Amino acid sequence: MICDTHRLAELLAGDLAFEAPARDAHPLYALHPFAARFPYGLAGYFIDALTERGDRVLDPMCGSGITLLEGWLGGRAVVGVDLDPLARRQSAARTALLDASAIREAGAATLERAAFGYAGIGNPADPLAALRAGMDDATRKFLDYWFLPETQRELAALAVAIRGESDDGLRNLQEVIFSSAIVTKSGGVSRARDLAHTRPHRVNDKTPRRPLRVFQGLLRRAADAYGSVDRDAVGNRAVLAGDSRRLPVAESSVNLVMTSPPYANALDYMRAHKFSLAWLGEPIPKLSNLRGRYIGAERQSGRATGDEMPPVVRECISQLGARDAGKARVLGRYFGDMSAAIGEMARVLRPGAAAIIVVGPSVMRGVLIPTHDCLAAIAAGVGLEVAAVAPRDIARDRRMMPARNGVRSVQGIGIEGRMHTEYIIGAVKP
Ligand SMILES: C[S@@+](CC[C@H](N)C(=O)[O-])C[C@H]1O[C@@H](n2cnc3c(N)ncnc32)[C@H](O)[C@@H]1O
Repeated sequence: MICDTHRLAELLAGDLAFEAPARDAHPLYALHPFAARFPYGLAGYFIDALTERGDRVLDPMCGSGITLLEGWLGGRAVVGVDLDPLARRQSAARTALLDASAIREAGAATLERAAFGYAGIGNPADPLAALRAGMDDATRKFLDYWFLPETQRELAALAVAIRGESDDGLRNLQEVIFSSAIVTKSGGVSRARDLAHTRPHRVNDKTPRRPLRVFQGLLRRAADAYGSVDRDAVGNRAVLAGDSRRLPVAESSVNLVMTSPPYANALDYMRAHKFSLAWLGEPIPKLSNLRGRYIGAERQSGRATGDEMPPVVRECISQLGARDAGKARVLGRYFGDMSAAIGEMARVLRPGAAAIIVVGPSVMRGVLIPTHDCLAAIAAGVGLEVAAVAPRDIARDRRMMPARNGVRSVQGIGIEGRMHTEYIIGAVKP
């Protein structure tokens, strides 16, 4: 389907609120929480209007895989790329063709193995000791700080039992369910509070729930969710480990890019994700290293922006630089990285195909950064035709925005209203 800027502008002038309650979403939407994910229906709106069954839809920063889920349910060939191992696990699980009864049977077998391991009858006799023997010091210390010894024993029994599942799709789903018992707003079975939402802190007055029981309940719910997938209607899917600045995708091969990049002062996903990834065989030092490569990360090592950036971008960086030179360098690298990422989107799109980029403004050191205007200018700079930059109101609670982006920090400069708005950039490759 060929798209032009006129048609795209019409679509962007529609109702973009997507405020349907979560219970109206496909049940796989709720499989695992993920901060700042798309509201259900947003990706589907553009996918339905701009592509046909069998077309290739790419999300180069796919996060929890909501673009992929909505495209896959509608028979599109969906491709997701993300640096984050938990994002990829979730994306793969949300687009897996799994049979509900196979999920129940495999889950029951895993729980049985875990119960044996927990009681010390299984092999290995002590799953926690076996897991810890393969961990480095930093990972062991991290787990000791955030999980009570009793919880650790159950989680280890479960993690080892999940490794015993031989089917890749079922094992991945079990890992995601395992993770969803930990990475929740309230910190799940860990000793943390405010885990998925803001900065986690340890609390002593919390009695963590029992992982085996929580897993059992979540598994039942997941099996039901897969039961409502129309197996004949879904498309193909690929979830790739990769970097949106160097996409592992062929030139002119994609019918639609549908994505939301990190904001300029990005959420630190790894801060929460390592709580479950550390149990799933990903060492803390490796995760810390990966964290630095995320676009928008404070410590990331991307290239800095130079004179080639559009004036609106240079203006933002210089305004911020007047208050905080270090933050201005972080912002410069963010726009440099986003320039590479949007350049890659332009490369892989077919001529006449659209990119939809959802992003919001940020406030850094009291300076409002209109990230949407900056990214639209960058898109134009890499040769895309920008049709419109349309505002949409966000239900803050639903998208779980970071506290530091919140109203409190901007009240002083009187722009709090704008912080409840994000923007959808629509652009076409000529
Ligand atoms: C705002 S989230 C996307 C949320 C997604 N739209 C959803 O509905 O779940 C941004 C994602 O970009 C990913 N990311 C950050 N830097 C990246 C990079 N260089 N390459 C690929 N993905 C990256 C993060 O891991 C995160 O999953």
